[in-house]
Amino acid sequence: MSSSAIGVFDSGLGGLTVLKELRAAMPNESFVYLGDVARLPYGTKSSAVVTRYAKSCARFFDPHETKLMVVACNTATAMALPALKTAEKSEVFGVIAPGVRAARQVTRKKKVLVLATPSTVRSGAYLQEFKLQDPSISVQQLACPLLVPLAEEGWFNHSATAEVIRHYLSSLRTWDFDTVLLGCTHYPLLQDSFRKVFPEEIAVVHGGQELGKEIRDYLMASGLRNPLSVPGTLRFCATDEIPASLPIVSSLFGADIPFETVDISV
Ligand code: DGL
Repeated sequence: MSSSAIGVFDSGLGGLTVLKELRAAMPNESFVYLGDVARLPYGTKSSAVVTRYAKSCARFFDPHETKLMVVACNTATAMALPALKTAEKSEVFGVIAPGVRAARQVTRKKKVLVLATPSTVRSGAYLQEFKLQDPSISVQQLACPLLVPLAEEGWFNHSATAEVIRHYLSSLRTWDFDTVLLGCTHYPLLQDSFRKVFPEEIAVVHGGQELGKEIRDYLMASGLRNPLSVPGTLRFCATDEIPASLPIVSSLFGADIPFETVDISV
């Protein structure tokens, strides 16, 4: 069991930002990544639909070959994590609690702005998690739906991306925060654009490293760490064909990553 893989799924390829952090934290572990690109985006869909999609992604991972599962997608974590935890035999980890931990560690004024998809914002999952971890932190949320397609397009450091971020921020009455939490898998790719918009004293964070630590600690405590000292393997799967040299893939894992096309419909 300890040498089996960690299953990671996302609504698409943005979850590769999470996989990258997990791989950095646990280079000897093997990972199977599933991107549900056929049904992207999740971030505009209802809780019932996202939960149905997330369950079908979870079923893709064979419990005999996967020792735990990571829901890399913020929207799926926000809407389906409790349902997945109940349904799955293996341990299931989401991205919202680690993101909140990352923001808590850096906010000095205890004022955080969460940027996320419309569905994640609507779910209130980040608000609940902040309340649980530190109710004294005041949290604003902002839905930024256009940032996912901009990241998919590879416009990571583009004046149009910075302009779109500025446009979303213009709906805030005041900039009363010292920390911005990136609550969507795609947003870490846009770090350079965020840095153009936010002054240096505002921290821009995401939960990837915290999630890596959480899972590493869990594997250690439960005796499930891969005993082999050789680097683990990576398997990339997607629910539709992935064109060669997509900016998201090549910027995170280099060119020529072979994706298997899988059918998860039942
Ligand atoms: N993966 C989603 C998230 O982190 C963003 C993309 C989508 O809308 O499906 O919320």
